[in-house]
Amino acid sequence: MSGGQPLLEVDGLKKHFPIRSGVLGGVSAHVYAVDGVSFDIRRGETLSLVGESGCGKSTVGKSILRLIEPTAGEVRLDGQRIDNLPAGQLRPLRRRVQVVFQDPFSSLNPRMRVRDILAEPLRNFGLATGHGETEDRVASLMDKVRLPRDAIGRFPHEFSGGQRQRIGIARALAPGADLIICDEAVSALDVSVKAQIVNLLSDLQDELGLALLFISHDLAIVEHLTHRVAVMYLGKIVELAERSTLFARSHHPYTRALLSAVPVPDPEAQRQRIILTGDVPSPINPPSGCRFHTRCPFVFDRCRVEEPLLRPVGKAGHISACHLEHAPGGEVVPQPNA
Ligand SMILES: Nc1ncnc2c1ncn2[C@@H]1O[C@H](COP(=O)(O)OP(=O)(O)OP(=O)(O)O)[C@@H](O)[C@H]1O
Ligand SMILES: [Mg+2]
Repeated sequence: MSGGQPLLEVDGLKKHFPIRSGVLGGVSAHVYAVDGVSFDIRRGETLSLVGESGCGKSTVGKSILRLIEPTAGEVRLDGQRIDNLPAGQLRPLRRRVQVVFQDPFSSLNPRMRVRDILAEPLRNFGLATGHGETEDRVASLMDKVRLPRDAIGRFPHEFSGGQRQRIGIARALAPGADLIICDEAVSALDVSVKAQIVNLLSDLQDELGLALLFISHDLAIVEHLTHRVAVMYLGKIVELAERSTLFARSHHPYTRALLSAVPVPDPEAQRQRIILTGDVPSPINPPSGCRFHTRCPFVFDRCRVEEPLLRPVGKAGHISACHLEHAPGGEVVPQPNA
């Protein structure tokens, strides 16, 4: 593992959305959308955040971006707190951390030509002055995302879904970001287009030293571009590991269940087929003990009462929040009470 300070550090992040009810609008409950999430991302690294719909992935991304205010925890960029910056001091964060959402239609102004969509952040951050310099920068952004330069006069609706996502990526690159949060950035695209965008992101990362937080409900897609994977379940990270470790030697039954749905090209990979039953419980009233216990095929008494903490399992940097131990063959056995 490389030393030095991580680019991004997320420490004990929580976001509890209040639910208001009644005529007076008092807070009657909370949605525990993100409930104590910690991870870091190094410069030039891709960390993927995966898990089923509603587990809190986008809420983590939006909290880092300060599109929503976190309830608790700390977020640091190059060691500087960004979670508590006053609204008037968000400019450096807005320049250095960018986002690409799933639906470029809703995030690209339909009445703006691509030239203006890309020139706007350049102007906002004072990165290009004068017409000539702006045109040059815009042209070079088009090159970076492999779109024809002569398309700058067109409107978003004149492009295909994959091309629109390239425009979204170009706009994220415009201010010279260090970190791009890709929130389901390829989820809506056709399989072949998905692969092209994933390749583009990974080339851009090599070229520019970008860090990526790649949010996806689809484990199969992250396998091709990620360095590490964090698996979330109901507001918490349940397992985090290097890509190869996670795909070949996952520890948590939830990760194994997600992997059960992914085709395995590697016959060496140890895969225990786990089919999940039941729905994800409500984050308003998460289960006691281990939040996954209501759906876990290996549940035992301890899981219902004691919350498992993330602990090192196997290789360095591999952590998992589960009371189970694994026998050498990969089968799981309950860990004796501490
Ligand atoms: N503004 C809000 N007010 C109340 N609850 C919210 C709000 N935004 C999100 N939630 C709830 O927080 C939980 C986490 O939502 P989030 O969008 O972060 O999940 P996600 O993992 O990104 O899901 P998906 O894969 O569907 O995008 C969900 O239960 C969601 O309904
Ligand atoms: Mg989401």
